[in-house]
Amino acid sequence: MSGRRPIISPSILASDFARLGEEARAVEAAGADWLHVDVMDGRFVPNITIGPEVVKAIRPHVSIPLDVHLMIAPADPHLEAFRAAGADIISVHPEAGPHLSRTLQRIRALGAKAGVVLNPATAPEAIEWVLDEADLILVMSVNPGFGGQSFMTSQLKKIERLRALIDAAGRDIILEVDGGVTAETARQCVEAGAAALVAGTAVFKGGAAAYADNISALRGAGGLGAKAAE
Ligand code: DX5
Ligand code: ZN
Repeated sequence: MSGRRPIISPSILASDFARLGEEARAVEAAGADWLHVDVMDGRFVPNITIGPEVVKAIRPHVSIPLDVHLMIAPADPHLEAFRAAGADIISVHPEAGPHLSRTLQRIRALGAKAGVVLNPATAPEAIEWVLDEADLILVMSVNPGFGGQSFMTSQLKKIERLRALIDAAGRDIILEVDGGVTAETARQCVEAGAAALVAGTAVFKGGAAAYADNISALRGAGGLGAKAAE
């Protein structure tokens, strides 16, 4: 995977919430591949952000996939609402419980891609027995809850381990990283085997005029001129 151009999924958590539609359009125009939506409930994580109504409001502003990261527990009662609102990828934490396998099956049955998110303290093997039911694995390189935190380099080994697990399984699972991704840490993630990168602060810094440069700086990570991973 190293050397391939990574998928860039800007996290709207770092955007101007008062101008969400405009911000979403601006990052799509600047070259974003996906749009990452951080959903927090004030219980599973300490912060509260947005719900399905806001996802629905963003949907008509962009045509790129909406990459919805659920930091809520339980997640199951809300899956349908997020899918109906326009989520293309729905990712859940195993700790949100109670049955990860069932949750992933439900997400797929709704027609979305199903993702599993691993907290920094969660072992990579947590996904070992649901590999057939997952389309994406998201490695948290910060503790979930807030944007603007520093990248935990301890997670690079986990990315490597997951890359090996995915390759050994021979399944086409997208390996994504979220938290503290900068041009420098993006390069490390891609070298470790990541195919997709979430970035909030590093994309939205400097205002709309800087978004295209910010995104290409992150993408430069995978080698210029390479084609985006599907
Ligand atoms: C943290 C969120 C991240 C966050 C990333 O709980 O899942 O998606 O917005 O923000 P940065 O890129 O600023 O670390
Ligand atoms: Zn996220």
